[in-house]
Amino acid sequence: MTAYKEHLNSLLVHGSEETDPLYRTVNTPIYLSSTFRSRNFGVHEDFGYSRGGNPTRKQLETLIADLEGGRFGFAFSSGMTATAAAISTLKSGEEMLVTRNVYGGTVDVLSTVFSRYGISFRLIDTSDLTAVRDAFRENTKAVFLETPSNPLLDVSDIAAISEISRDRGAITIVDNTFLSPYLQRPLLLGADIAVESATKYMSGHSDIIAGTAATNDESLAERLRAFQVLIGGIIQPFDAFILLRSLKTLSVRMDRQIENALKAAEFLNKNAAVDHVFYPGLPDDPGYELNARQAKGPGAMMSFLLNGDYDVKTFFDALEMIVSGASLGGVETLISSPICGSHRNFSKEQLEDAGITDNMVRLSVGIEDISDIIADLRQAFEKARGGSHP
Ligand SMILES: Cc1ncc(COP(=O)(O)O)c(C=O)c1O
Repeated sequence: MTAYKEHLNSLLVHGSEETDPLYRTVNTPIYLSSTFRSRNFGVHEDFGYSRGGNPTRKQLETLIADLEGGRFGFAFSSGMTATAAAISTLKSGEEMLVTRNVYGGTVDVLSTVFSRYGISFRLIDTSDLTAVRDAFRENTKAVFLETPSNPLLDVSDIAAISEISRDRGAITIVDNTFLSPYLQRPLLLGADIAVESATKYMSGHSDIIAGTAATNDESLAERLRAFQVLIGGIIQPFDAFILLRSLKTLSVRMDRQIENALKAAEFLNKNAAVDHVFYPGLPDDPGYELNARQAKGPGAMMSFLLNGDYDVKTFFDALEMIVSGASLGGVETLISSPICGSHRNFSKEQLEDAGITDNMVRLSVGIEDISDIIADLRQAFEKARGGSHP
């Protein structure tokens, strides 16, 4: 019976149980072995050396491919390694168009590493299809989308952009971290590569750093595999186990996070301390309809602008339960300031172009009682009112 593979909740729970023929364990064992015994001279059966392949990683990679709706899945040591592997499918002289308020690290790796190898990029507003069409040049060979984007939650049309790219001989890469394959499956919408920082929702407990990539295209898969295996940015067996375990609860975690996020967004939207809320779950958000069309839910990431009468530092320091920290997607509610965290290396001009301001706050809503999340925000707003308090 393989029908369950069509249903994501069942796939998440049962999609990684086939690894242990000896004892038929329900969970995938952690194969901590760098090398494997060769039974016949010069012949390695399934596995030879763990940089090339490892049974725990293989089980995870099979599940990743199934979850993303792709033929080939890869698990990396971090989301950035997955992103770098996707960028490495380009070659010198080629250019990539990138969502203008993409995760800051993606811009950093393009400008500090890949530009030295002749791969250039331009930041554009990928939520505007005309801007995407007009941006193509002779050497544009990829579009890198993050949708919803970080931190403005701009929504880009994956299917339409994938078609534009394909017509011009370019590929489309989607960083799907904010929604995860539970809510959005870019490959099924026509994208060529889906990458995820599995550090976030996929693992969901703020404990490991990991990344994944998936594709349906054999030649892209070969390039991703070459980057993974030759450079060795592989996920370790223990982390692969943690990720497999965490994925079993991805859907229930995200369902609760969305339920909480909708209420948090409503609270923020009506609060005098907040000038604007960016969240594709709000019906008046410009990305609401498109996101509802291409994803199963709006996710639990949002940003808001603190009103000028409220002091940003005092607000952050006053929070009691909500964790002020750099990451997102964990079971705990996490809050951060993009200019101090994810986008700290953006130039003043890049911040301005991306629309990222000093008073912007990014919120990753967790699974706690929503009444506690709202109460914590409310008391911190009260303390921050009227400027800074020594
Ligand atoms: C949207 C997005 N993509 C990629 C990354 C990089 O992932 P990692 O930190 O796992 O390398 C992050 C990290 O914050 C992210 O938010």
